[in-house]
Amino acid sequence: MREFDEKSITAAVIGRIAQSDDPRFKRIMTSLITHLHDFVREVKLTESEWITAIQFLTDVGQTCTDKRQEFILLSDTLGISVLVITLNNPADNGSAESTVQGPFYWEGAPELPLGSHLAEGVVGEPTFYSGRVLSVDGRPLENALLDIWSGDGEGNYDMQIPGETGMKARGRIRTDAAGRYWFRSIRPTFYPVPTDGPVGRMLRKMGRHPYRPGHIHMIVSAPGYLPVTTHLFVAGSEYLVSDAVFGVKESLVAQFDRHPPGLGPNGERVDTPFYTVNYDFRLRPASAAAPINAA
Ligand code: BEZ
Ligand code: FE
Repeated sequence: MREFDEKSITAAVIGRIAQSDDPRFKRIMTSLITHLHDFVREVKLTESEWITAIQFLTDVGQTCTDKRQEFILLSDTLGISVLVITLNNPADNGSAESTVQGPFYWEGAPELPLGSHLAEGVVGEPTFYSGRVLSVDGRPLENALLDIWSGDGEGNYDMQIPGETGMKARGRIRTDAAGRYWFRSIRPTFYPVPTDGPVGRMLRKMGRHPYRPGHIHMIVSAPGYLPVTTHLFVAGSEYLVSDAVFGVKESLVAQFDRHPPGLGPNGERVDTPFYTVNYDFRLRPASAAAPINAA
């Protein structure tokens, strides 16, 4: 028989994975066990705190459905998602930076012609988006795909609107021969991450607000290049400095220029004030993918 004390338990648990034949898994589990044990010792976790943590994680799991991923929200609000994304998608040579995907991506948005209005009938201030998709060395990428989604001008995604079953403010657009894209949508506003579950309770207990600054999401991809999951943030939006999921990167903050009612950039009549925004995305070649560190 072998007994363990509060120190020797760590090496004993790590010793039990010696036979694993997956070196990367072994590396991750060894580090995880070491950090978790150190954490328990450091804060001197009580039994009731440990049960509270187990109950919290149970609630997080039980809040997940096919439409809601509370574990990702937990990862997002603890800054883990952005940490993983930033480690794995270095913005080198001026490539577009990545940020969180969030829970409101809906695969299969309609592929629409250049210049389309993605947000027909959606509340919000009209906004004309344009720019180019380029390689990091400045070559225009024809037929690059922008898979775009956003909430409406009141901060609600289609999936969150009771009774709304169809896609709204979503679409896929491909660049022309000069790598250019343009489309119409609305100017997104700030909104809260879901707060009616355990992560919301955690944020309140931490004294934190749940808001994200105004942003539009896109996944930009092109054959032979690394896709980038990112946002354009509205310059001047509230919460840019305190995004609840830590997703803001300075390079992704875009100027939304306001115009009086009149003709839009593509010659269409707009009866209300409207905005234009121009942003170029640079993609890294697929050969630049980071190797997995098994050591
Ligand atoms: C979003 O931007 O859609 C989002 C990201 C993380 C958590 C919740 C929402
Ligand atoms: Fe969002």
